Amino acid sequence: MKKQLILILILHTATTLFAENGYELWLRYNKISNTALLNQYKKQIASPVVLGTSTTMAIIRDELKKAFSEFTGMPYDIQKYPGNSNSFVAGTISSSSILYSIVTKNDLKQLSAEGFIIKTTPGKTLITANTDNGVLYGVFYFLRLMQTEQSITNLTIISAPKLKFRLLDHWDNLNRTVERGYAGFSIWNWHTLPDYIDQRYIDYARANASVGINGTVLTNVNANATILTKPYLEKVKALADLFRAYGIKVYLTARFSAPIEIGKLNSADPLNDTVRQWWKEKAKEIYSIIPDFGGFLVKANSEGQPGPQDYKRTHADGANMLADAVAPFYGIVMWRSFVYNPESNDRFKQAYEEFKPLDGKFRKNVLVQVKNGPIDFQPREPFSPLFGVMPQTPLMMEFQLTQEYLGQGTHLVYEAPLFKEVLNADTYAKGKGSTVAKVIDGNLDNHELSGMAGVSNVGNDINWCGHPFAQANWYALGRLSWDADLSSEQIADEWIKQTFTNDKKTVAVIKNIMLNSRDALVNYMTPIGLTHIMYNGHHYGPMPWGNTLNRPDWNPVYYHKADSAGIGFDRTAKGTNALAQYAVEVQNQFKNIDKCPDEYLLWFHHASWDHKMHSGRTLWNELCYKYYTGVDSVRSFIKQWNSLENYIDEDRFKQVKQLLSIQLKDAIWWRNACLLYFQTFSKMPIPANYEQPDKTLEYYKSIKILFAPGNTPVP
Ligand code: GCU
Repeated sequence: MKKQLILILILHTATTLFAENGYELWLRYNKISNTALLNQYKKQIASPVVLGTSTTMAIIRDELKKAFSEFTGMPYDIQKYPGNSNSFVAGTISSSSILYSIVTKNDLKQLSAEGFIIKTTPGKTLITANTDNGVLYGVFYFLRLMQTEQSITNLTIISAPKLKFRLLDHWDNLNRTVERGYAGFSIWNWHTLPDYIDQRYIDYARANASVGINGTVLTNVNANATILTKPYLEKVKALADLFRAYGIKVYLTARFSAPIEIGKLNSADPLNDTVRQWWKEKAKEIYSIIPDFGGFLVKANSEGQPGPQDYKRTHADGANMLADAVAPFYGIVMWRSFVYNPESNDRFKQAYEEFKPLDGKFRKNVLVQVKNGPIDFQPREPFSPLFGVMPQTPLMMEFQLTQEYLGQGTHLVYEAPLFKEVLNADTYAKGKGSTVAKVIDGNLDNHELSGMAGVSNVGNDINWCGHPFAQANWYALGRLSWDADLSSEQIADEWIKQTFTNDKKTVAVIKNIMLNSRDALVNYMTPIGLTHIMYNGHHYGPMPWGNTLNRPDWNPVYYHKADSAGIGFDRTAKGTNALAQYAVEVQNQFKNIDKCPDEYLLWFHHASWDHKMHSGRTLWNELCYKYYTGVDSVRSFIKQWNSLENYIDEDRFKQVKQLLSIQLKDAIWWRNACLLYFQTFSKMPIPANYEQPDKTLEYYKSIKILFAPGNTPVP
């Protein structure tokens, strides 16, 4: 009896100790020791050597040791390396070419500074690159192959990133709140930096390096100039020093009025010599503290932020002033094109109207950072018309990982399909095949600078991203910024196997949920091209009736324009003519109401309630169909997830199960609220074969969320 009790106690302690909290992300090497291929793996790494003594090489050695306890005591001092019989060698080409003549100088040229080569034959493994960081990327790739149970005996992998700047943009405030953050507070503890280095900073760097992310913007685009003061720069330096060996540079947001706020000048005019000098001095100071500082990200003259237009100057004047300040140190400026003001008749058109005329006017070290769509990270948007119309300017992609408009911390939404939809969209800028991916990777217009940023979804929640599946969006951003040709399916497959399990059936079920999740959300929130009908301010939940804010372009009714005749925003020549911002071929896809793809219909047309859709249904019936399908999809996710009860650790199983039930409740809320509201215009019944809303429109209008996370518009 006593023995039994002890056993129970031991078991209980063991499960508590190993309770799965999601902290490890996709970096789980226990998978490697559990696989049937372990013997093959062991042969490939039987006598390992990591050549070199740099911090990066030490990190590589530690990472490999995490995966293989055998790696303890592995030699890594290149000087002592006899250069012959090791089964596993990781090192730069200058240190390892003696081993494998297979790698030619030409191979290495293709690799630039960050690519890598993995070459294996039975019993031998070589991971090499031009630089230590390239080797680090190669090692993470190699570990991924094993985590996902792939054979590694005959590999020739040559891989180099297609984009130069692969960044996370943190919208983190200095008081540790995170704008649009749904995973707790900021991971940057400015109070304890620079003296206290949280283990999280290290694991953050590992996670980023493992997917190829090479930069982090630490602060919110709604910027606070304090970050540019000496005490804060010392704190930033502590992070930069730590991240350097992982190949990650730090960047900061520059508040345009900083010369006034912290420089005590009376102007921030970009053409004023004193102001220009102030920024030059500031850059000099920053680089004296952080020699490889990446540069600045700027939001200017947008949503109340200061900017060059305050002095009747252009965005180019502003960007160039900062670009000149960081140019001597090889820094860059990422200038955001997210601008709009209420004077225009269509918010859609404004980024294009302000930025296209500036093409060719920016310095060489400026990238214009463009949100994927013309409005604002909606569940589905057509691609931003800026892509393809600024051939003389490198355009950088901005995606949003944090799910501001996509169910925030409670909905399971895998975003890779959204990212891919935009990347694969054809701008026709230089004829067929001029995809957005080719615009941003610099191929189309021969740009040396190129980049992609994801607005971070990381916070100090134990599992980093709040929803266990939100980690997949961070992962996907990294993988796609390395190689935009990867499919959503492949990325999901890798992530599931590394994060959960290699069990085939389980992988298939989770993948099915993930790959359908974004469309499900679009259906229950904003089908057929509806947009921005979320609750004012915090953006959680539906508010299609919203019409109380004094800026029309902040009110949902501005976006859907429902009336007794129909619904949707006419952007054809009869309307605001925003369509004209696209190449003719793109216009042709959208301009004819009968041919426009259903998913974009209400983006471009004000269609009558009885407009005939491609399915044969009327628009009203299609709207009902989509909203009900969205809810049904969530029901099906719940069923599928429940089937995994014994195949997933209990903690994450329960967590996701509970979140899915919130998602279902929300999906029904969205469906009922939107249909009841739009019905006041269509005056048509919800078809009788559907379950009817059990509450009134008044009830849905009365729902208020007073304290939502992430709603901290100004720091
Ligand atoms: C959205 C978001 C803001 C954010 C802005 C931006 O409008 O709601 O919180 O500041 O985008 O990207 O600058």
